[in-house]
Amino acid sequence: MGAGIAQVAIEAGHEVVGREVAHELCVKARDRIAHFLQRKVEKGRLAEDGREAALARLTLTTSLDELAECDLVVEAIVEDLDAKRALFEELDGIVGADAVLGTNTSALSVSDIAASTSTPDRVVGMHFFNPAPLMPLVEIVRAELSGDDAVETAYALAESLGKRPIRCHDTPGFVVNRILIPLLNDCIRVLDEAQVSPQDLDTAMTAGAGWPMGPCALVDLVGIDVHVHASEALHAKLQEPRMAPPPRIVAMRNEGLLGRKSGRGFYSYESR
Ligand code: CAA
Repeated sequence: MGAGIAQVAIEAGHEVVGREVAHELCVKARDRIAHFLQRKVEKGRLAEDGREAALARLTLTTSLDELAECDLVVEAIVEDLDAKRALFEELDGIVGADAVLGTNTSALSVSDIAASTSTPDRVVGMHFFNPAPLMPLVEIVRAELSGDDAVETAYALAESLGKRPIRCHDTPGFVVNRILIPLLNDCIRVLDEAQVSPQDLDTAMTAGAGWPMGPCALVDLVGIDVHVHASEALHAKLQEPRMAPPPRIVAMRNEGLLGRKSGRGFYSYESR
């Protein structure tokens, strides 16, 4: 998702420093962004020099210190509270005093992440949706100690990216995942209950309910691991049975069938 968010930002004219943990991942992220911008050029939605200019605004690095000059940081690392807290603690000492720290967490508490910093007033949720370049929504999440300035800066940034931000509070799953996660879990349970194939379930929900893509294709896009984690996090907090990830999808996660990112989930994919 980080690459998708970076793509949106460079297209909107922002200078972006993207940090990956390994050089190969930096190369992969740039290739991915260059590919999608090239597709836009081919479809006449972006001029060739616009693509070049956008890519020139992107710096990729493995060093967190290179984020020192950033006005706003959007964290999009693994959905692991300890990892996010460790990163925010480090970022707190690197970026300037006025910088806003945003987290793209899907289901963790923004307040718990913010508590790892000495400046929780500048921490907000900035929750993008997958695929970030195509989905207009960004949930701007106010945590317990978020300051008005940080919330409004994040909101304004989302608007400057051409997105449709909404403001909400730091409740489990915020707005969309609170509703979407149990719904997707119901869909996965129906696979076994109705003995329907993933293809037919997806056809049912696109052709019969007007969904833009079927639930199996959607969970593959989001990532089976991300979906299982979000389900577990919501189930732990809200204790609603529908929040718990169905055994079928937990087994897929355990087998490394993670969806698009691993090349196989409900469907098989070529790499990218
Ligand atoms: N990044 C950047 N660009 C991308 C992309 C990506 N990941 N995927 C596709 N594109 C570009 C491509 O260039 C593509 O064109 P080509 O295939 O010609 O190269 C172009 O966008 C259009 O792609 P599609 O033809 O696939 O577009 P579409 O009209 O079928 O719509 C969609 C795709 C917007 C994803 C639509 O299917 C949709 O709205 N699906 C629902 C997605 C959704 O619900 N997302 C939310 C998930 S929940 C979540 O994210 C929350 C969480 O916390 C986990």
